Amino acid sequence: TPRKVIFSGIQPTGVPHLGNYLGALREWKRLQDEADPATTDLFFCIVDLHALTIPRPGKELKAARDEMLAALLALGIDPGKSTLYFQSDVKEHAELMWILACTSSVGYLSRMTQWKSKLQLADTASLTDPEARASLKLGLFSYPVLQAADILLHRATHVPVGDDQRQHLEFARECVTNFNHAYCTPADPAKGGGGGGGGGGGGPSRAMREAAMVPPEMILPSRGAAKRIMSLTAPDKKMSKSDPAPRSRILLTDDAATIRRKIRGAVTDGLGPASYDPVGRPGVANLVHMVAALDPRGRDPATLMKEEGLEGCQLADLKEFVSDKVSEELTPIRERFESYMSMPWDIKIEIEKSTEVAQKSAARNMRLYKEAMGL
Ligand code: ADP
Ligand code: NA
Repeated sequence: TPRKVIFSGIQPTGVPHLGNYLGALREWKRLQDEADPATTDLFFCIVDLHALTIPRPGKELKAARDEMLAALLALGIDPGKSTLYFQSDVKEHAELMWILACTSSVGYLSRMTQWKSKLQLADTASLTDPEARASLKLGLFSYPVLQAADILLHRATHVPVGDDQRQHLEFARECVTNFNHAYCTPADPAKGGGGGGGGGGGGPSRAMREAAMVPPEMILPSRGAAKRIMSLTAPDKKMSKSDPAPRSRILLTDDAATIRRKIRGAVTDGLGPASYDPVGRPGVANLVHMVAALDPRGRDPATLMKEEGLEGCQLADLKEFVSDKVSEELTPIRERFESYMSMPWDIKIEIEKSTEVAQKSAARNMRLYKEAMGL
């Protein structure tokens, strides 16, 4: 049976917040812990080339890379079990991106929502304004192509994705179709009669068969994963690093006192004792969702509230309960993070071997691709 290859990436945005953790990173750890090493390879990549779409001083990027690496190690991504590395340490990401770009449709890319939303940000009134369009960068436009390259570089079969990333995985599948059509299909379609499925002579060469890409499947988040943790200051917006209010999010490195202060200050409502009503009381529900996501017994929010005696309690007591649970989860992560950050040597040592594994995998697959392409 073919090996299962799981790939996922995260931008080096510094210390991740609770939303990143409950929505994505804790899933990485779960996949790692549940994977059978005899049949499964895991690749987790800090995608620092993607980060260049938002320019910033080199010193800041370097610090954000170190913090993301320390956070991933601290939350339990183990370079002995998972291949953990920086994208920029494996040059084939960029190389494969160019190859895929050459068979990618500009029309398809311009319809992708992330690009469209940036276009709108740049100038809602006149998308035809040449200056507004000129200020948009090619890197941002081609971002999905680099993402597809990330996935296809290691011939990933499975990609854990949140809802917001479905479209990007769909594009990666499109890249597979385009690549296979361009380079892994015999040049003379007359032989064997149409459709490519025909047997007999004139089939794909050995190089074509070995290079042919397999469309990656999506791994949906587990039941315990949080779909969306909302901002503590505006429960109608998701918790995000780009929110200007630091009080809106809990960082994986916040200490117990900070967590308590932020949760105490969380916007709820004046509707009296606690009850679970995601539509009518989003601020309260958001706090309950955090503890439900952390619940070792995986209870749904309403059941958890009843069984923990939170139904009908004062909001202040609910907040204390939530602070305790969040602190319990984050304290060991914070302690490990601090010890990684205070190491007197470069933290990259921790992933030296892992980086070599990623480089070897990339080189091996790139050889297959290039041979089929005639390079
Ligand atoms: P941000 O919104 O802070 O910019 P990213 O877009 O970099 O976060 O997301 C990194 C990962 O974390 C993605 O897999 C995303 O789905 C997940 N994620 C981000 N914010 C949240 C949230 N508030 N709740 C759940 N998951 C989230
Ligand atoms: Na985002």
